[in-house]
Amino acid sequence: MDGDVGRGGPGPGEGGATRHDASELTQTDRAPGVAAIATAERRRPDALVPRRLRGYLALDDFEPAARRRLPRQIYGYYAGAAETDQSRDDNRAAFRRVAFVPDTLRDVSRRSTASALFGERYRFPFGISPMGLSGLACFEGDLALARAARAEAIPMAMSATSIMPLERLAADGGARWFQAYLPGEPARILAMVDRVERAGFDTFVLTVDVPVPGNRENNVRTGFSIPLRPSLKLLRDGLTHPRWSLGTFGRTLAGGMPHMENMDARRGPPILSRDLVRAVGNRDGLSWEHVELIRRRWRGRFVLKGVLAPGDAREAAARGVDAVWVSNHGGRQLDGAIAPLHALPAVKAAAGGMAVLFDSGVRRGSDVLKALALGADFVFLGRPFLFAAAAAGEEGVRHAVGLLGAEVERNMAMLGVSAVAEVGRRHVCDAHPPLVGPG
Ligand code: GLV
Repeated sequence: MDGDVGRGGPGPGEGGATRHDASELTQTDRAPGVAAIATAERRRPDALVPRRLRGYLALDDFEPAARRRLPRQIYGYYAGAAETDQSRDDNRAAFRRVAFVPDTLRDVSRRSTASALFGERYRFPFGISPMGLSGLACFEGDLALARAARAEAIPMAMSATSIMPLERLAADGGARWFQAYLPGEPARILAMVDRVERAGFDTFVLTVDVPVPGNRENNVRTGFSIPLRPSLKLLRDGLTHPRWSLGTFGRTLAGGMPHMENMDARRGPPILSRDLVRAVGNRDGLSWEHVELIRRRWRGRFVLKGVLAPGDAREAAARGVDAVWVSNHGGRQLDGAIAPLHALPAVKAAAGGMAVLFDSGVRRGSDVLKALALGADFVFLGRPFLFAAAAAGEEGVRHAVGLLGAEVERNMAMLGVSAVAEVGRRHVCDAHPPLVGPG
């Protein structure tokens, strides 16, 4: 592990945009291995897509299938957001306010979606966000996501709110990014950082937008809690979703009662329990001094997730953080928080040499390209991949990655760019500018 690996500074981009560490990928023939993958991806015949997945044509197609497959409590937890859902809805709406300004008559016949971040090459400029309780989307859901990410050569961050020990996900799934929720307690922080390092992770993502849990009324209405409390509602929902109850939950329980494994250096409470045990500690005491503590201890790449304010990006840069992740937690925390797409340009301007990662509201390849154009170095998605896992396991996630990658690649051609690093600010504008100015 090398904490300096991501600090080389962004490479030159067009129109004021830069792409972290991607300068060597601005020509497809400079990255032959990845370019070859991208070309193969472009030409993948439909026959290679398993028959049962051929009806899924876009990421949004997975959600209805997941909704049918999952008990209400679980689907509601994944799909829901905080209070009025304003931020979750604004995250999507923000993309509609941005329009493309494509270049034409560029030779784009040798285009590649290959992307670089922290000195690693990936197949696409997107990855999988950390998501709580992914292990209940399908059997060993965290592993399904990690294996799909590894097979498709994209990054994936495992969530602290998971029921599989992080050591197993690193060993069996090849996971390299771990997302932590930490209390403002140095001893617990250091113990967790050391555990993550021992397991072989190279990227530590600290989520900073959860000083307290968001107000998710939908969870109360459906009867969802962590741990899950046995109740008539839960039993009824289990009976009406036998495939999930047997294939996912039953199979999981057969291996022993799962626990919240990664909230702390020590194992947390069981996932199914009558008593509502909250082992989160005083997360509201977490502060910049703890960021400094982690930076001193952790030798790998260090990312702060949930940054929306340019001032926070400056604070992070001053403390040697490698990247800020612009996110409002998919609208699940502070309802009314600015859509990350709108926050992106100012955070990018404040980020200096740090990479800028982005999530919240991304559903299409066009969304990925808009975020890149507005300053993201790499884009992440959560719910769509979880719904793909619920619908069809690892294969479903791989198919989702392929669909999104094909959209990115197709739209790059129509945008007139051959390399991801070429996507710049000049490729987008306000979708609804005034037709005429004031008279
Ligand atoms: C994360 O754990 C969440 O529920 O948003």
